[in-house]
Amino acid sequence: MKIKSAKQAALLTALIGSLVAALLCGFMLLFAVAGISLWLMAAFVALVFVAVYFVANWTIERFVYQKIKVIYRVIQGRGSEAAVDSPALDDVQMEAEEWADKKQSEIQALENQAQFRRDFIGNLAHELRTPLFSIQGYLDTLIEGGIEDPKINYEYLNRADKNLERLTVLVKELDEISTIESGRGSMNSVKTDIVALCADVIALSELSAKKKKIKLEFAKQYDKSLMVIADRDRIQQVVTNLVINAIHYGKPDGSCKIRFSDMPSNILVEVIDDGIGISEKDIPRLFERFYRVDKSRSRNQGGTGLGLSIVKHILELHGQAINVYSKKDVGTTFSFTLDKA
Ligand SMILES: Nc1ncnc2c1ncn2[C@@H]1O[C@H](COP(=O)(O)OP(=O)(O)OP(=O)(O)O)[C@@H](O)[C@H]1O
Ligand SMILES: [Mg+2]
Repeated sequence: MKIKSAKQAALLTALIGSLVAALLCGFMLLFAVAGISLWLMAAFVALVFVAVYFVANWTIERFVYQKIKVIYRVIQGRGSEAAVDSPALDDVQMEAEEWADKKQSEIQALENQAQFRRDFIGNLAHELRTPLFSIQGYLDTLIEGGIEDPKINYEYLNRADKNLERLTVLVKELDEISTIESGRGSMNSVKTDIVALCADVIALSELSAKKKKIKLEFAKQYDKSLMVIADRDRIQQVVTNLVINAIHYGKPDGSCKIRFSDMPSNILVEVIDDGIGISEKDIPRLFERFYRVDKSRSRNQGGTGLGLSIVKHILELHGQAINVYSKKDVGTTFSFTLDKA
């Protein structure tokens, strides 16, 4: 008989129990008639006790525990053939609850990932569409005769070129992120003078800063070099992304300063600006790919919203984190540390 429900199991146990009770009554009657001693009756009761114990154990083992064991095996992630010690019911309940919680958080993580992927593809399509449509528009106008018009031909070619540049930056940044995320790009950690590295960034960004009337400099004169362990090219990219942001989101006649603090085991690097600032509600999302506080302002600067995501990834590769402190309309400070060499 296949037991499928608690009612059927109870019915079977009740049947066996009644059978034992009926037998007991019959034997009692027999003993009373035959006048057998109390000791013998007690021995008989003990015998019945043992018999009922084994029957009950067999029923529970067969119809309840077998099924619990299968569940237990699944929870513990063992194959169906693996032997499982008889678990205490309390343990099974506790482990089942833990297992359900774990599965729930796994499902949540997968859902988040799926959502993230959907958002990413949507964002990417959007980012590609805007410059592509612009390029197509300018080229179509030129082909349809605009090329002969000296008032627009140079201007439209220039705009098409700007949009192409944006696409190139986007592809380069995406490539950078995917290389870091997939762990394909190997780290080349070497002894690096962070002061010299930042001086290079300042020199390379000076022109952009000048165009926006922003003073780009060290917070004070650093005469000595400060040696850190870092992947030089990647940290240069981190500092460049932060400095370029300070310029893009700075105010005219503002400033961007780089400051170092010599700590016991590391060097703190800060990029400080007195620009437009970031409101508190935007800060938690700043490092997400494609996240931009003011989309049109960022886009006008040719931004794609990937810069800070790259910064975060590179610093994570160095075992470090990026910190941000900002006040709307007052300014922003991005900071990170690097291990001393
Ligand atoms: N120093 C800053 N001051 C104010 N806002 C900032 C600053 N740095 C970043 N932001 C905000 O954070 C957003 C994300 O910055 P991120 O560098 O990731 O992207 P982006 O500058 O828009 O594009 P790109 O990928 O070209 O760097 C920016 O769009 C801007 O709104
Ligand atoms: Mg940026």
